[in-house]
Amino acid sequence: MEKVGVLVVCYGSRGAAMVDAFSRSQNYSTEIYVADKQRNPFNLEKAKEHAVVPDLDAEKICKFAKKYEKRIDFGIVGPEKPIINGVRDVVEKETGIPIICPTQEYAIEGSKVAQRRLFHKVAPGVNPSFRVFDPKGYSTVNEVKRDVNAWLDKLNDQVAVKPDRPVAGKGVGVWGDHFNTREQLFEHFLSNYEHGPVIVEEKIEGEESSFQAFCDGKHMVPLPETRDYKRAFDGDKGPNTGGMGSYKDVGDWLPFMTSADKEKEVQIVNKVFKRLRGRGSNPGLRGIPFYDAFIHTGRGPKILENNSRPGDPEILNLLPILKDDFVDLCFKILDGNLTRVEFEKRATVVTYKAPPNYGGFKNVFPQRVDSVDADKPVDLSGAYRLAKKYGDKIRIYPGSIEQGDDGRTYALGSRTVCAVGIGEDIERAREISLEGLRAVKGGSLWFRTDIASREHIEKSVEHMKRLRNQ
Ligand code: GLY
Repeated sequence: MEKVGVLVVCYGSRGAAMVDAFSRSQNYSTEIYVADKQRNPFNLEKAKEHAVVPDLDAEKICKFAKKYEKRIDFGIVGPEKPIINGVRDVVEKETGIPIICPTQEYAIEGSKVAQRRLFHKVAPGVNPSFRVFDPKGYSTVNEVKRDVNAWLDKLNDQVAVKPDRPVAGKGVGVWGDHFNTREQLFEHFLSNYEHGPVIVEEKIEGEESSFQAFCDGKHMVPLPETRDYKRAFDGDKGPNTGGMGSYKDVGDWLPFMTSADKEKEVQIVNKVFKRLRGRGSNPGLRGIPFYDAFIHTGRGPKILENNSRPGDPEILNLLPILKDDFVDLCFKILDGNLTRVEFEKRATVVTYKAPPNYGGFKNVFPQRVDSVDADKPVDLSGAYRLAKKYGDKIRIYPGSIEQGDDGRTYALGSRTVCAVGIGEDIERAREISLEGLRAVKGGSLWFRTDIASREHIEKSVEHMKRLRNQ
């Protein structure tokens, strides 16, 4: 079998899922070179060479790539930070290893203000009404407060407040969810404004979905839709997180969407893609430059934000059911001839376990934190054993967890581990995913119990019916 060397830049479970997809290649014997944020136990086991780059600095990643330059055929990047900081530009310049992710110029995740302005030019209907408050335009806080207050009067306080810079969804505050008074709103606003421009935009009522597409610079191939659960706790309560879980239905869109909704999304993102691509091809747009959080309203979809990378957890709903060989798919991206991507017609559900400090869990539910257990290692062996029962219908991907010198694994600060369940429908996929999570022991980890539940999905369906009939 042909040998292929792949560099994978990893952070968390998303990285482990990419490593898994490469290691399952049927067409190639893959050697995986992992530049990782931490000693992820899954990646350590699968990697030919593994380097820890805690800050995911582009130059350090490049140094690792250069060391194995002769053995690496291409690289792929999961997390946003190195993409936005130009890791592709650096590695391609220094080593000639082609990298799958957008170049720094096309990593439009780097600025929400620039995104809004781009959408305003290309597809104005997808933007909520918005205003940008830039510290460069004001000499005192009172001046900016005066202008924000006038804008809030106009929008009846029904707004979302978003920093320009990327904060993995966590800096976004919404009226009625994260604050209920202007005083609270300003506290949130100013905590972001001290770092740079802030957008205050109309709060949109609707149901959210995640759109992702692979691009080879010439073609954009939309992937099946997924639904992320951003809020920390059951019932969509608590602060925003990186995402506590997600689901995908058997087909290409979600139970509360129609095929027309999906087509509309594709049309919108295609307009943006074509504007950035220009005529012919633009290899700067390689990878997943368009992972868009859409919100579906009674009058069509709007974009909440655009990311320039695969979603975490959303890509975990897709990689395990990819029918194409992932190495072949990457070669097609590099060759500019990716025209379709095939997935099994199955539902998938991802659920995450997180440590007590994540999402403020410990403060809200102190009685549910076992402080003795919290210091113990996390035991993944029971969850891995479920593969014997379920075969390919379950995947366990460690995330923010590190293998210690004692060979045991310890939870770090972010989402610890996820379980992907794969089934003939969402309900079955959910059962498998939750069984996987429950088999993870130690660390006093917690999780959301309502991800992809029948009740939650029915609520979304009813909500969309009401919005469409208004
Ligand atoms: N699921 C949220 C993110 O990947 O940013």
